[in-house]
Amino acid sequence: MDSIRIRGGRPLNGVIPISGAKNAALPLMAASLLTAETLTLENLPHLVDITTMANLLTAHGVSLHMNGAGRRCGGRSLAMTTPAITSTTAHYDLVRKMRASILVLGPLLAREGRARVSLPGGCAIGARPVDLHLKALAQMGAAISIDGGYVDARVDGRLKGAHLVFPQVTVTGTENLLMAAALADGETIIDNAAREPEVTDLAQCLIAMGAEIEGLGTQRLVVRGRESLHGATHAVLPDRIEAGSYAVAAAITRGEVLLQYADAAQMASLLKVLSAAGAAVSVEEGGVRVSAADAPLKGVDVMTEPHPGFPTDMQAQVMALFATAEGAAMVTETIFENRFMHVPELKRMGADINIHNGSAIVRGVRRLSGAPVMATDLRASMSLVLAGLAAEGETMVNRVYHLDRGYERLEQKLAACGADIERVRG
Ligand code: UD1
Repeated sequence: MDSIRIRGGRPLNGVIPISGAKNAALPLMAASLLTAETLTLENLPHLVDITTMANLLTAHGVSLHMNGAGRRCGGRSLAMTTPAITSTTAHYDLVRKMRASILVLGPLLAREGRARVSLPGGCAIGARPVDLHLKALAQMGAAISIDGGYVDARVDGRLKGAHLVFPQVTVTGTENLLMAAALADGETIIDNAAREPEVTDLAQCLIAMGAEIEGLGTQRLVVRGRESLHGATHAVLPDRIEAGSYAVAAAITRGEVLLQYADAAQMASLLKVLSAAGAAVSVEEGGVRVSAADAPLKGVDVMTEPHPGFPTDMQAQVMALFATAEGAAMVTETIFENRFMHVPELKRMGADINIHNGSAIVRGVRRLSGAPVMATDLRASMSLVLAGLAAEGETMVNRVYHLDRGYERLEQKLAACGADIERVRG
């Protein structure tokens, strides 16, 4: 298994191009199931999760054509056409690799009136049930049962518009129901909808496919269902979590990086935290510049919340930053119950962190020291890479497959800014 070797202590300086967002691309790809015509996605990142979704879609009858470089940001362009759904079953062997596979449930059910999707099960950061997706689909007229580890959903004719109120904000839940409602009979209101930019990106793509959706970016989405949708071309928005991770890389190494293509508005809560910590953040025409070249950084209290609050997907990375900053920071996780798996590994590198229920108290130390480490999920792995960039000596990050799920050309992007980082094939 591959590892990443980092020799830390070098300030990063340069430009990092930000790829298309994984968490936008996955639901957008699933949206191709909603139409017999071609949906073309531009600025698609080259990641293992994208390949997993492509394999899943192929099994449902989607034919995929990769067109090389797309127009925007240098990402790839993928054309997806589904003249007919050839299978309504999403098998366990693909779903277990990626929880976001649940995103085929809404589109399959809306177009075919039938879907059988393996339950994703738990994962490293918590239980992560899909009960809210299922309750909402049932409210739209689906008969849902669970057997043999699979969700079996059926509807006679079309799904019916309904007033859905999510008791808790769910990102993929909102996306699944948005897609289902786009082909339903009548009007669907989704209240307490997720406001993440990736949800808005999906809504914009659905509108380009002929859907009628109002309330983009708000907690109430109103969808008037159509009998069919048509083809469209849509560019995936830039990845705010990838951009945020490299913003932290600039800060933690006391360097300066231009995050090319990054959208400051979509990462406002993180940029506010970085500014409060003492980094200089400026918005430029080509992206966002983050510099901590001559700043002493200090810890800032952070609490994760649904968008526009501070993203849970950036919690592990800022914790690495605060581990090397002056003073203390309290980092509170409210979205997932078990998302501190990076803490014991950061402590092995010399970090001073104590967990009390859902909060971690991080007291900055003068220097972290390199060590062999491994993480159990994508963002936790990134926090270890960041700690390694700042640490004295050599850090080996194992289980690199987590990073390959969500960070395109990680070593190349960091090395181009002066990091001493390489992949060790194992
Ligand atoms: C998405 C993101 C993930 C991010 C998360 C929160 C994708 C592919 N993944 O995950 O990177 O960390 O949003 O921003 O976009 N919940 C239930 N029942 C449900 C659904 C959710 O109890 O049916 C709970 C979850 O356990 C969690 C909370 O709601 O505690 C939020 O989860 P959700 O927003 O659904 O996360 P994902 O969409 O899976």
